[in-house]
Amino acid sequence: MKILITGASGLLGLNLCLANWDSHTLLGLDRGKLHGTPCELIHADLDDPAAASRLIDIVKPDAVIHTAALANLEKCEADPEGARYLNAEIPGILAESAALASVRFIHISTDAVFDGTKDGIYTETDAPSPPGVYSATKLLGEQNVLSANPAAAVARVNFFGWSLSGTRSLSEFFYNKLLAGQPANGFTDVYFCPLFVGDLAEILVGMLDKGLSGLYHVVGSEALSKYEFGVRIARQFGFDEGLIRPISVEKSELTAKRSHNLRLSVHKLSTDLGQPIPGVSTGIARFYAQAQQGYPQKMRSYQQE
Ligand SMILES: NC(=O)c1ccc[n+]([C@@H]2O[C@H](COP(=O)([O-])OP(=O)(O)OC[C@H]3O[C@@H](n4cnc5c(N)ncnc54)[C@H](OP(=O)(O)O)[C@@H]3O)[C@@H](O)[C@H]2O)c1
Repeated sequence: MKILITGASGLLGLNLCLANWDSHTLLGLDRGKLHGTPCELIHADLDDPAAASRLIDIVKPDAVIHTAALANLEKCEADPEGARYLNAEIPGILAESAALASVRFIHISTDAVFDGTKDGIYTETDAPSPPGVYSATKLLGEQNVLSANPAAAVARVNFFGWSLSGTRSLSEFFYNKLLAGQPANGFTDVYFCPLFVGDLAEILVGMLDKGLSGLYHVVGSEALSKYEFGVRIARQFGFDEGLIRPISVEKSELTAKRSHNLRLSVHKLSTDLGQPIPGVSTGIARFYAQAQQGYPQKMRSYQQE
């Protein structure tokens, strides 16, 4: 299968592009940040609606994994119109042209569509209630995708791993602070289900192989606080876990509203894929193993000078 990955320079997109798939050929779409990647690259800016609407007809993939987004919460609050265009309109345009060309389509959404007020675990049947511009535009993107292309799959994700910049993920935030011997704030009142990006990439390709469609929670199978996540990173790398400072998210300098409870059920995903979904311990071990193998440095070598 020829799979087009949008957002190839992003945390998820680049990890997808760098994985080895026996039976699939990958094509990454970026805006000129990358060079020399093992997968072929095409350059396009999705801010151009004409480029977006012609993309699938020109590239002729068998499947698309649409990861490109404005994924910074504070930037979305500052530019709600730009966020709505990229996170909601573009997914609808791409999903529609995929439907017309009979191309499989997976749209990447977010666990943050929930405001976190539920006392328990969110399933796909729970009504979302986005707390801010980012999550509201991502929810609109889900709706636009599924109404333009009912055969598409929407994956609500949360993940960690190594990125092109070395600073994109929460795991890199803790790692960089710990490596420098500096304290790092960890929220004790935000619970989430992070999935290692390598596990996420395998699951997304598995969803394409199985032809899954509709809404799925594609997160890790274990919930923990962001503080506990920082402590687990410290332990895995042998750093001083006392550097992770337990604080409330309400006392942080972050301005965009964030949910306290992002525990999502993976029961539907696990059942339909016919496999268990990994938890955070194996994911952090794989994150560590990649560091030992020089993966972060290799990744950065693909950055255009
Ligand atoms: N990171 C997480 O834990 C998390 C959690 C929940 C959901 N998500 C969702 O997962 C997806 C991937 O997130 P991520 O963390 O990998 O994002 P990211 O690292 O911020 O990457 C975003 C990607 O989108 C590209 N992009 C932005 N504007 C574009 C445009 N106008 N035209 C073409 N490409 C454009 C960026 O290209 P440039 O590099 O050129 O800017 C980049 O490759 C997003 O849909 C996000 O909403 C992420």
